Amino acid sequence: MLIDLKGKVAIVTGAGRGVGRTIARTLADEGAIVVGTDIRDDLLEDAGAEWEQNGWPGAHLLCDVRDKTQCQAVADAAVERFDRIDILVNNAGVAGGGPVEALAEDDWDRNLDVNLKGTFLMCQAVTPVMKRQRWGRIINAASFAAIIPSLGAAAYASSKAGVASLTRVLAGELGPSNITVNCFAPGMIPTDMNRFADADPARQEALLDTLSLRQWGDPVDIANLVCFLASDLASYITGAMIDISGGKFATQMPWAAYRKER
Ligand SMILES: NC(=O)c1ccc[n+]([C@@H]2O[C@H](COP(=O)([O-])OP(=O)(O)OC[C@H]3O[C@@H](n4cnc5c(N)ncnc54)[C@H](O)[C@@H]3O)[C@@H](O)[C@H]2O)c1
Repeated sequence: MLIDLKGKVAIVTGAGRGVGRTIARTLADEGAIVVGTDIRDDLLEDAGAEWEQNGWPGAHLLCDVRDKTQCQAVADAAVERFDRIDILVNNAGVAGGGPVEALAEDDWDRNLDVNLKGTFLMCQAVTPVMKRQRWGRIINAASFAAIIPSLGAAAYASSKAGVASLTRVLAGELGPSNITVNCFAPGMIPTDMNRFADADPARQEALLDTLSLRQWGDPVDIANLVCFLASDLASYITGAMIDISGGKFATQMPWAAYRKER
């Protein structure tokens, strides 16, 4: 096995559903001990049942990433129960908002607090442990919105651009401790967050037209990247934002390649 995560202890935030649930499941499948966290206990209960059924080691803990005390409690629990923290995946996220002129302050705060401050607080909670170990992998969920934002997404895009910047600063600060820090920028993966697959067919076609590969992403695509970044194979990658969008706007008009084919 090239990617060997056996015995590594991983914390995954927002692990109750969607991309985070698949990341947690894939890490567990690769042998990691996964501490999955989420703000919703119904989702955690469901994930816990899956872990039990598969005999995967780990734990499921309630945590609102906006709360410093709760983030610290997760890090403390991971060390108490499993002795170390090797991998942190800051996946928990929210979206929504609207055009700047009409954007509610609460929506701005929610995006910034969960996506950016939550990532910062979790990084702060695990960093002393990883430094003591002189080994760690921090992997943050950015978004294609940090590369090219959508109209009406000021709050979300600003938070994700912040995640990209935080990732680079932290990579510099933690390099001497042999801790890598990277982020990933997905394009469009249908989940409960966005319901892309439920959009009307014309809108779906228009969205798919922006992708060189012309297909939705799958949570497994992200999980595979996370496993790679968490492994020894990626030990020389840090401070990177990896575009995992199926080639969204890799060229100016990706749809033209498909029109030519018809
Ligand atoms: N799906 C996509 O196309 C896409 C694209 C770009 C980036 N992303 C990013 O990937 C990550 C996962 O997205 P998803 O599509 O699976 O979304 P999702 O809404 O399905 O899952 C997000 C999870 O985060 C949890 N969460 C929300 N607020 C929280 C909080 N305060 N504390 C702890 N947990 C909280 C939710 O309960 C949920 O389980 C997000 O950071 C998102 O911004 C997703």
